[in-house]
Amino acid sequence: MFLSFPTNFFWGTSTAAAQVETAGEHPWKGLVAKDGHIFERTTDHEIHREQDAGFIARFGSVYRCGVDWSRLQTKPMAKFDPAVTDEYCTFFETLQTRGISLMFVMHHFCHPNWFEGMGGWAKEENIRFFVNYAQQCIKHFGKYVSWWNTFNEPNVYAYNAYFSGAFPPFQKRRYFKANRVLDNMGRAHEIVRMLIREKNKNTPVGISLNTAFFKASNIFGLLPALFARWWFLDRAARPFAKCDFWGLSYYAFLLFDPFPVDMIHRPEVVRRLGLPHDKMWLYKPEGLGWVLHRFWKKYKKPIVITENGICTDDGQQRIQALRDYLKVCHEAISAGVDLRGYIHWSTWDNFEWHLGPTFRFGLVRVNLKTMERSMTPAGEFYEKITKQHGVEV
Ligand code: BGC
Repeated sequence: MFLSFPTNFFWGTSTAAAQVETAGEHPWKGLVAKDGHIFERTTDHEIHREQDAGFIARFGSVYRCGVDWSRLQTKPMAKFDPAVTDEYCTFFETLQTRGISLMFVMHHFCHPNWFEGMGGWAKEENIRFFVNYAQQCIKHFGKYVSWWNTFNEPNVYAYNAYFSGAFPPFQKRRYFKANRVLDNMGRAHEIVRMLIREKNKNTPVGISLNTAFFKASNIFGLLPALFARWWFLDRAARPFAKCDFWGLSYYAFLLFDPFPVDMIHRPEVVRRLGLPHDKMWLYKPEGLGWVLHRFWKKYKKPIVITENGICTDDGQQRIQALRDYLKVCHEAISAGVDLRGYIHWSTWDNFEWHLGPTFRFGLVRVNLKTMERSMTPAGEFYEKITKQHGVEV
């Protein structure tokens, strides 16, 4: 069956600067990932921009990305480095010439070492540094931007940086600090949203919030699953509720027994349960439908899927995931959810944070030795979806 999408629905792909560019002076630089790769040279995007723009242009009309704050601003409140600013402007112009609109992400799990050194997001007085950076982003890059994301997944950032300890500054079980981080990011979001409003009334501003489907697998998991659902989807969203749209990302089905069950930490449990999964999480596309209805019912605001994808080396699994997820999106739209667009993660394979680049999500494959790019069958499949404005399921 062919599922056709509404005329105003858009397609795109996404990456994040830190995951595709050679590391600037930021806290991820030099980190040894789970797969043994060092977070430094990621995918050489900075020297492959033309070629990468060619792939981006084959995947719909929107590209979601950001910039490396640490390369642009080497000191607090400093003027953006002109050479780095030019590098980004040239790239954004290339995209514009190819008819690609930009969804610009200001903060994607990464900021300069000097910002981290001053206490990062845990300190309210540091908000002004982000606001200064954001002002310069608006000034230099605003003319290329069609959608703004002030923050990418503040819930994943606060959880990993201050609770699980997987992200810099690697702090553990600091629940109240994690909440403080969310609230500071929320304050920053609101200030920057107003600044954008002053300059450009019509460019929508939002964040991308990570979502998942949380469930208990036994009685001991009931409370943790309920708590995780509340914290991740409600408590973490609250500081950002003033937005023009909800950007939502979805990848995972999280079971609790009472501890979270995933492929990174507990692959033996996943195998024993015999549940579908990718290299990182349990797989449940219907969970995305549940999330879409939940956000639509609660906020009645337009929604964009800002990230969705699957961690796998198997091209057929990626194609099936596209079919499954888009079927769910189509059903949600038919049921009245105001879903405006779908952005796939990711355009090409990139450095999957603390796990490393062998945790692949790309529609384009990157050879990690030569950095050569090659289109995959899943990439061709997605390209066809964007051209036909629909998917065969
Ligand atoms: C993040 C990306 C990441 C992806 C896959 C999202 O939570 O925004 O940076 O690569 O998930 O794990």
